[in-house]
Amino acid sequence: MKITTNRTPLGQVETETLIVLTFEGSKEERFGAAALFESREIEGKMLELTLLHHPPGVVAHRVLLAGAGKEEKFDSATLRKLMSAAVRYLKSKSIKLVALALDGRFVGASWVRAAVEGAILGEYEPDRYKTDNGKKSIESFAVVADAPGLEEAAEQGRIIAEAQNFTRNLVNEPANRLTPLGVAGTARQLASEFGLECEVLERAQMEKLGMGALLGVAQGSAEPPALVIVRYRPTKPQGSAHLGLIGKGVTFDTGGISIKPAEGMEKMKYDMAGGAAMLGAMRALAQLKPPIPITAFMPCVENMPGSRAQRPGDIVTAMSGKTIEVINTDAEGRLILADALTYARQQGCTHLVDAATLTGAIVVALGHLNVGLFSSDEGLRDRVLAAAKAEGERMWPMPLEDEYKDTYLKSAFADLPNVGGRWGGAITAAMFLKEFAEDTPWVHLDIAGTAWIDEAKPFTAKGPSGVPVRTLVRLAMDWKD
Ligand code: BES
Ligand code: ZN
Ligand code: ZN
Repeated sequence: MKITTNRTPLGQVETETLIVLTFEGSKEERFGAAALFESREIEGKMLELTLLHHPPGVVAHRVLLAGAGKEEKFDSATLRKLMSAAVRYLKSKSIKLVALALDGRFVGASWVRAAVEGAILGEYEPDRYKTDNGKKSIESFAVVADAPGLEEAAEQGRIIAEAQNFTRNLVNEPANRLTPLGVAGTARQLASEFGLECEVLERAQMEKLGMGALLGVAQGSAEPPALVIVRYRPTKPQGSAHLGLIGKGVTFDTGGISIKPAEGMEKMKYDMAGGAAMLGAMRALAQLKPPIPITAFMPCVENMPGSRAQRPGDIVTAMSGKTIEVINTDAEGRLILADALTYARQQGCTHLVDAATLTGAIVVALGHLNVGLFSSDEGLRDRVLAAAKAEGERMWPMPLEDEYKDTYLKSAFADLPNVGGRWGGAITAAMFLKEFAEDTPWVHLDIAGTAWIDEAKPFTAKGPSGVPVRTLVRLAMDWKD
């Protein structure tokens, strides 16, 4: 989808469909719509979409009245969602050229960015492997507004949303087409396209580094593991911070010997959504160029059963030197992240953010609407929460208290078990990771409930959501030492 901007007065915009916002309680007198509001056929409720043909007073062939809900509740997140819904609706009607008219109230950069993001995210379909040719798509989306910095804001929105869609495509790749080495190849390609550095640690190097936790998970699969590292270095770094982004990259999670039930197992191709989000964020950041160095670490493995697979009861030694008793081979995410966190600290990262489809327990706790956020550092926690709020990615702070470790994370035979039992499963998983983040300011995002959308909605396709790409980008862009 091509993104354009212009400052043409609304009546003169040449397009197939001009989108105009309508709010609850306000009446639209233009476009011959007055009677529709009078009869309450249109009320301006959020996501109420009404297509008007041959509207009087404008050059556009159609006007789409886009219900935006209560004006006092309207924010950039709502606009993003509404634009996604509008684009999805219009493309279902085979419309190809769309323009959004934003009036003087909504011309700041965050409005324009959100509108463009909404359009690009709404246009997304996970249909790469569908061979029929009946695909419908919007060719161009114009933002019409008399806004300072309009072009730049639209361009930023495009970069961010395209990065998020890149992540969604990667997450949706099935495990026969995207192996750990496949992620490494994708990262190399991305790095050369956008001027980033890429390094891939293979099994032998990880053995030298003593990454026993990661290698234990990988040993059951014929697919070799890869620790994929992507680096962004600013030309003029400000301050002394170095942000490390660590993403779980399990290209398929069968559970291993502690095998998962068959039903729904096909979804476990999305167990690399954390790693894919880090790659997507790096793709955007390479173009937006924040003034701090950022390194992404993606430990990539396939978790398989088999005669070489790790067994329950095995004891592995992590790179940090801590020993771990593997009680359940399905709690593999924390094992690979443990070594990636240690490595990120060793590489000089001063702040760490990880994202992982880590636990079913977070889905029980928060459903599919909020990312579970855990942090050992109040300052970094508040920055991530602020970035998430600004970007309309909902996150909820969860407890991280030593008593959870003392109560639940006990092994008779090693320093730590890899599971904490039935209760507080998302919290004990986070406590386990904390042992490896140690004293480095760190935020853990459990995205098991939010990285995949089970059911299509008017504003989004079924499948990968691309969470938390936008939050990570905003965090880095707004960074202040
Ligand atoms: N990848 C799963 C977590 C998951 C569950 C992601 C549902 C998405 C949807 C993770 O590796 C896992 O299997 N966790 C176990 C941990 C348990 C064995 C302590 C879980 O949550 O059941
Ligand atoms: Zn698992
Ligand atoms: Zn997993």
